[in-house]
Amino acid sequence: MDAILFLSALVGLTSVLWLRYKRSQGNSIPTVGSSGIWDYYTGGFRFLIRAPPMVKEGCTRYPGRVFRVPRLFNWEFVVSGSTLIDEVASAPEGIMSSIAAKQEMFQADITIGPEISQNPYHFETIRVTLTRNLAKCFPDLHDEINYAFDETFCLHGADWKLVPVLPTMMTVVARTTNRLFVGPPICRDPDYLKLVVQFTIDVAIRSQIINLLPTRLRPILGPFISSGNESIRKGMKHLAPLIEYRIAQEDELGPDWPGKPNDLISWLLETAEGQERTASRIVMRILFTNMAAIHTASATFTHVLFDLTNHPDYIAPLREEAEQAVQELGWTQVALNRMHKIDSFLRESQRMHDNGPVTLLRKVVDPAGFRFSDGTLLPFGSIITAASRPAQFDPAKYEDPETFDGFRFSKAREDRDRTTSEGVSSRQMIATSADHLPFGHKHRACPGRFFAATELKAMLAHLVINYDLRAEMEGVRPPDDVFGPIVLPNRKAKVGFKKRQ
Ligand code: HEM
Repeated sequence: MDAILFLSALVGLTSVLWLRYKRSQGNSIPTVGSSGIWDYYTGGFRFLIRAPPMVKEGCTRYPGRVFRVPRLFNWEFVVSGSTLIDEVASAPEGIMSSIAAKQEMFQADITIGPEISQNPYHFETIRVTLTRNLAKCFPDLHDEINYAFDETFCLHGADWKLVPVLPTMMTVVARTTNRLFVGPPICRDPDYLKLVVQFTIDVAIRSQIINLLPTRLRPILGPFISSGNESIRKGMKHLAPLIEYRIAQEDELGPDWPGKPNDLISWLLETAEGQERTASRIVMRILFTNMAAIHTASATFTHVLFDLTNHPDYIAPLREEAEQAVQELGWTQVALNRMHKIDSFLRESQRMHDNGPVTLLRKVVDPAGFRFSDGTLLPFGSIITAASRPAQFDPAKYEDPETFDGFRFSKAREDRDRTTSEGVSSRQMIATSADHLPFGHKHRACPGRFFAATELKAMLAHLVINYDLRAEMEGVRPPDDVFGPIVLPNRKAKVGFKKRQ
């Protein structure tokens, strides 16, 4: 009897898996690994631990084409080669949607709030207004960088101190970023900083738990799993009085009231209308923007410090460049614009160590599907990414791509005889292309990259001018931490710092 029950259960389970497998999309697209039914399931687990080599294998076997990799619950279609990557980056939101993809992968409507995708006005506030205010706000940013490093490093005298890099940079970045988002003293409040750092982790983990639920149960049970409401409640405790005061001042004295602070809260209120003009909605936008800004920038800067201490010969020329620019032009945005070597070092570090082997997460939302120029048709509902790392290591685009060359881009910029003005701007840290995707590419490229570049360049210039640095273990770059398709810098590794006298 037991054997019959067991056999029936096995047949039932196999039939369900077989039906799901048969229904899975894009069966004609080449697969990394075998495309058999069991592989579809075990492959999802394999991708969790071996995503970078699986994407690399796909790009080697199917260069310039689309291939698919198994995720736990669906296939992911990975696009390789600059022609097809350009087509993904250029596709309009109504055909290949970034918002719908984030909704599916991170349950954004439940974990963050549906208003973010229904009315993403913050995107232009960050891309245009924040960027336009960078030069004016630079003294504040620099002031915060100064104190944030001093207080978090807590160095005494001329002694070396080993500092755990990622958590330290997370604090410094959260603080300097929030100097421009919400201003002092909130940007230094440890409880507020903990909230904005933890929000991203909560969304990342809880969305995956919600994804385990059957689709119909997600809107019902998801809100109990999400920490969204709790985070907004905590954010309200810190920010509601400030936001309500600003709304009242604006209602009474007009949009340009005397003493209006120059920060993200004010810039958001310039556009927010109706329900969006309430403290809780502004708090949600601030949390969301922090989510996009802090972990990305602190991971990038941690990689930069691993690269710098692993190649210490770069410290002297970077220091010389920064000191010279600051001596001539002071701590200003104009001085930063002069720092081509610092810009190049950051860009090279991003090229070799961005956040994973794939980027440009999209979902096909056109009912007719999406047809690439090579004829490949991806059906409605397909989840798509672009193979960024293989593109950034393409020997046809980068000379000796496996070798870290910190001045790769500044050398090219300074070769004035051969470089056009377009050639110069295409080699700056903020420039995106199908061969350089750390900030995405084209119309959905990161709107905060102008701010990120200013912040990270100022941090690196400040560090090399004021500190000596050395690796925890000479000649050993700490290995990355890999979580599926997300690659982070080593979370435990340390770097030695000493205050320069
Ligand atoms: C080194 C730091 C950063 C990196 C590497 C980075 C990278 C990215 C990438 C890859 C995307 C997605 C592009 C796409 O899907 O096509 C993105 C989107 C975005 N980034 Fe950044 N970013 C950084 C810093 C920032 C900062 C400082 C801000 C805010 C001031 C910011 C705000 C955003 C926003 C709002 C989006 C759009 C999110 C959405 O609505 O989908 N980012 N970023």
